Amino acid sequence: MNAMNKSFSHVVRHRRSMREFLPEALPSELIQSVLEDAQQAPSNCNIQPWQVHVVSGKKRDELAAALMAADAASHFTPDYYFDMSEYPALYAGRAQSSAKARYDAINVSREDKEGRSRALRLNLDFFGAPHVAFLFMPALGDSVRVASDIGMYGQTFLLSLTAHGLAGIPQTMLGMYADTVREELGIEPELKMLFGISFGYADRAAAANDIVVGRIPLAESVTFHE
Ligand SMILES: Cc1cc2nc3c(=O)[nH]c(=O)nc-3n(C[C@H](O)[C@H](O)[C@H](O)COP(=O)(O)O)c2cc1C
Repeated sequence: MNAMNKSFSHVVRHRRSMREFLPEALPSELIQSVLEDAQQAPSNCNIQPWQVHVVSGKKRDELAAALMAADAASHFTPDYYFDMSEYPALYAGRAQSSAKARYDAINVSREDKEGRSRALRLNLDFFGAPHVAFLFMPALGDSVRVASDIGMYGQTFLLSLTAHGLAGIPQTMLGMYADTVREELGIEPELKMLFGISFGYADRAAAANDIVVGRIPLAESVTFHE
């Protein structure tokens, strides 16, 4: 393994979703550098369909308040349907074990419904992160190709954060309030939101960040043909 491979592997394996951040804002050059990296993501026919809205400072606080209000009013406006109860047992089981790891880390039991919903609402305050990037996209066809481009962009963004010593968390939950985000940021209705990424410096001492969720063995995902 050469030095470059080693450092790539290190970045990939050290990226983890962080759920507690320090309040310090990042220098704008650092954000710019992450955005320049993410811009290198591949896309179908190189259409680069991502429209990224980065929110910081006063606007970040106003947006968090608007999301909390939308949540309190049960004003859910996802652009893309999401219902985990439809997941087959294989995926539901994996989702449950990662949720268990998350709640165990912060001492919230399965029976503690209020504790779980409080923990879930932390999503709406971006887990305390000083910045959030919303990944918007045009709805083209059935949206599947464009959504895969956004996924490529999202992972490149997350790996760049890690390579810069920063951290982030992708959040589908933010997509449940797409109209609220569009209204607050003045974004046209034609642009659809898949997810947001809250980011900043992780609070490394926080229990919420002290979890590593595993991965299934390769043999369960990969089949070789010769
Ligand atoms: C597209 C996407 C959306 C996600 N949405 C959320 C979310 O809304 N809230 C959350 O706490 N975690 C969210 N996650 C984080 C996953 O739970 C996490 O990636 C998974 O458990 C694997 O853990 P790791 O990122 O630490 O490797 C999301 C991840 C992805 C890729």
